[in-house]
Amino acid sequence: MPKLNVNIDHVATVRQARGTNEPDPVFAAYLAELAGAHGIVVHLREDRRHVQDRDLYVLRETVKTKLNMEMAATNEMVRIATDVLPDMITLVPEKREELTTEGGLDVVGNLKTVSKVVDKLKAKGLFVSLFIDPDEQQIKKSEEIGADMVEIHTGSYAEARNERKIEKELKKIENSVGIALDCKLRLAAGHGLDYMNVEPIAWIEEIEELNIGHSIISRSVIVGIEEAVSEMLVLCS
Ligand code: PXP
Repeated sequence: MPKLNVNIDHVATVRQARGTNEPDPVFAAYLAELAGAHGIVVHLREDRRHVQDRDLYVLRETVKTKLNMEMAATNEMVRIATDVLPDMITLVPEKREELTTEGGLDVVGNLKTVSKVVDKLKAKGLFVSLFIDPDEQQIKKSEEIGADMVEIHTGSYAEARNERKIEKELKKIENSVGIALDCKLRLAAGHGLDYMNVEPIAWIEEIEELNIGHSIISRSVIVGIEEAVSEMLVLCS
């Protein structure tokens, strides 16, 4: 069974909609952990649209499982990450105008920049994962620059609307898993996973961790976060 890491960015999104102090992502993380989540994920975006620096620092103090900080490969974020020292870092691409992370990090096209950031993070003892598309070259370059893990972007799989397309996207992910294993990379997956589509991904034994946010936080508005996390844990197992 893969570990389930809950991304709580959208708890912060609701708070930022009013600029108040509720709901607090720190409380959400606490309840998610109580419900059995294996880790907590937050993306500190350059524009601070949801998660704030304060959240990251408090979560560092309070998360008892594992804190995964998603960040862009920038000097500002390296400075914060090496100060907070989360349990792991996931490097993601970031565009200001996007609604959410679109597409994987282009490691091949930004080799020097990404490689430098990986080196700086690893010099501080941080475990580094790269969020990439299920693509052979991206995986091979990730290994070349010393990443510990790759998180396979499941967005195209999640968006596929007919069986043929779903099968095709699933195959792509399975092939990438094989390539990553040959490269001795550890494996995670995420993006767009929900209560309807998570099972075929959770069946892929070599994927150690699933990072899921929007579907769990959306459901938690209706049933509460503990119930939403518990239901997802059942599907992952
Ligand atoms: N993994 C990464 C690297 C992400 O950037 C995101 C979105 O913040 C997720 C997983 C979770 O995606 P979703 O919110 O669609 O579950």
